[in-house]
Amino acid sequence: MYRRPHVTVRGLTKRFGERTIYDNFNLDLPRGEFISIFGPNGCGKSTLMNLIAGLIPVDSGQILFDGQTIDEISFGYVFQNYRDALFPWMSAWDNIAYPLRFQKVSKKERDARVEELVCKFDVRINLKDYPYQMSGGQQQLVSIMRALIVKPEILFLDEPFSALDYEMTLSMRDQMQKVFMETGTTTLIVSHDLDEAVYLADRVLLLSRAPATVVDFPKVEVQRPRDAMTLADPEFNRIKGHCLDIFQREVRK
Ligand SMILES: Nc1ncnc2c1ncn2[C@@H]1O[C@H](COP(=O)(O)OP(=O)(O)O)[C@@H](O)[C@H]1O
Ligand SMILES: [Mg+2]
Repeated sequence: MYRRPHVTVRGLTKRFGERTIYDNFNLDLPRGEFISIFGPNGCGKSTLMNLIAGLIPVDSGQILFDGQTIDEISFGYVFQNYRDALFPWMSAWDNIAYPLRFQKVSKKERDARVEELVCKFDVRINLKDYPYQMSGGQQQLVSIMRALIVKPEILFLDEPFSALDYEMTLSMRDQMQKVFMETGTTTLIVSHDLDEAVYLADRVLLLSRAPATVVDFPKVEVQRPRDAMTLADPEFNRIKGHCLDIFQREVRK
């Protein structure tokens, strides 16, 4: 079945000073898939995500979401550094509900939406707590819920778990997968952890060194929900090996 791409990137060019990060770059992202971006350090993964999310301007080129610009759609963005991401003077609940204020949603409706979202997550947080009272993982969970509260058409995650301890990371991956399976939101994640990138993804976008090009964009045909058993799945390991080969080739260049 042919599905119209959700995101189309055409003729994207981006420079930082003398450095060209993207030079006439093209990309189609399918709707409703979880896409992991993987590539050498400094190749332009975060830059690509920030360009697509409209957080930094393109030098030239066009990025559309089913024909619309980023200003016309709702999106969620989760930053790597959860410590600076939440409002310290607001409770977890108010942080999550915050984006709805801009949509002129009534207090009653806001509370109902937070309630609905909290039920989807395995939330072991007192939502009356303030950020300083929560662990790193709890704060990042709140950040993710805040990104999802607007029912985004697309969700951006830039190394969202890299500041968390291992146990929390594993639990967050599974929560992320659960939410994705329930909502089917097109999701773009940057991860430097190959296990994580492949575990979560429907496809892995493998980038070359800057100026970045798409080296490959393999599909991960491993059944969901994925769990600890997935790590022993032959197909999972085949794709991981393939991604690692490409990565090492790029790093050596
Ligand atoms: N705002 C900026 N100003 C100048 N250089 C930048 C800026 N943002 C990123 N870069 C440079 O662009 C390259 C790609 O950065 P980035 O997208 O953050 O890489 P990564 O793939 O590690 O996420 C790096 O060399 C980085 O130093
Ligand atoms: Mg980065």
